[in-house]
Order: sequence, then structure tokens, then C-alpha cells
Amino acid sequence: MDDPIGSHPTRGEQLDILASIVADNAAPEDRILDFGCGTGYVAKLIFDKRSDLRFTGVDLKPESLEAAVENLAPHGDRFDGFAGNLESLDEIGIPDGPYRFAMTALTFHDLPDDAKQGVISFAADRLTPDGYFLLYDRLRLTEAGTFPLQRSIWARIEREFGRGMRTAEDFDQYEADIAPNNRPGRLSDYAKWFADAGLVMQILHLHGNVALIGGVKSG
Ligand SMILES: C[S@@+](CC[C@H](N)C(=O)[O-])C[C@H]1O[C@@H](n2cnc3c(N)ncnc32)[C@H](O)[C@@H]1O
Repeated sequence: MDDPIGSHPTRGEQLDILASIVADNAAPEDRILDFGCGTGYVAKLIFDKRSDLRFTGVDLKPESLEAAVENLAPHGDRFDGFAGNLESLDEIGIPDGPYRFAMTALTFHDLPDDAKQGVISFAADRLTPDGYFLLYDRLRLTEAGTFPLQRSIWARIEREFGRGMRTAEDFDQYEADIAPNNRPGRLSDYAKWFADAGLVMQILHLHGNVALIGGVKSG
């Protein structure tokens, strides 16, 4: 299965890191819940490393879930897809789990902030006591003063990988580009939302402003 978002220059390595984290730390038959699973690419990466796990995927688009079922056919009885809007989580009918891992990859920038917070809280409530929440997405840039430094990182990524990131000429243009399908969360908001959900968080991997964040139940 080809990566449906293959043009993203740093995604391949970071998703392999995410899949490796799950594969290395899951116990047999552990359940994984993926918010915004798309066509099942991340599930496939995980199943390729661990075929003994169980995966529940949620996505807005029924046609993506149908593609996921097809792409994950060798693991058919281990994948369940649920169609619905993450902005109305309680209407989707997601099984309560509990889940050893809840995760979301490159989906939060599509959600308004209250829905981002809702997913984190919903996930935390359905994790096993030793469960983890993994969040992979771009972080919102908040400082006009350091924007030229970030642009330098993007330029280097383009030179190194031969493919560019979504970028902007200056901070005003960056802010003007924020839209319903491009509203990455701020790190400071994530810190608050994780804490409110009873999770402590740690950045596990960072490439430019694209972060893999891990959360675990506090106390
Ligand atoms: C960029 S794709 C990432 C897909 C997958 N996580 C991956 O990494 O290959 C974002 C996914 O989030 C889903 N999505 C966006 N907004 C959503 C919402 N409000 N509710 C449920 N799914 C949503 C889209 O349908 C899409 O499949």
C-alpha cells in the first residue's frame, strides 16, 4: 500500500517511529483506537510489525473506511471501522475498549480546538490504566520573531528531501493561511488539554514543527 500522503517529506520516518513505538510496547491482543484513520495506512504499518493486535479506526469518510477494509484485508477480523465526525464523538458509537493505545495522525489540524480537546479527553477515558495516547501532527507556530528561523528549517527540508512543506513567506501570511483544514494546535494548548484529561505529555519526536507527542495517565 502506498502512502496516501506521500508528498509529506518527513511523514514516512515519523510514522515508522509511531508504528515502532506501538509494536515494541503492545502486549498480544492489545486494542488500538485511531481517530482519523483514513485508508488504514498507519494501521498497515503497525500490522506489518505486529499482526496480533486489534485496531479500531474512525473516519469522517465512509469511502476511506471501505478502502481501509480492502487495504487491511489480510488482517480483516482485527480491524473495525466506524464512520462519523470527531466533532460529535458520542454519536459515532465507538466501542468503549478499553484501548492500550489511542492515536491520531495528521488529523487534528482539520479539527476546531474544542474538538481536539474532546478527542483527547474521550481517548483518555477509554485507555487502560497503562495505556498511551499518541498525537502526531503539525504544531501551530505562534511567534512572528522566530518565523524566519522556521522558514530556514523548511528550506533545508526541501533541499534534503526534494519535497517542500506547507509554508508561507512571512508570519502574517502564515496566519492568513489558517483555515478549517489547516488549524494546527498550539503546544501550550496541548499541554493544558492533556493535563485536563488526566494525562502527562512528552514530545517523543520532533521534525521542524511536526511533532509526535505521547501521553500517559498521570499519578
Ligand atoms: C491527512 S488524513 C490522515 C489519514 C491517516 N491518519 C494517515 O496518516 O494516513 C486526515 C484524515 O482525517 C479525517 N478527518 C478529518 N476531519 C475529520 C472529522 N471531523 N471527523 C473524522 N475524521 C476526520 C479525514 O477524512 C482524513 O482521512
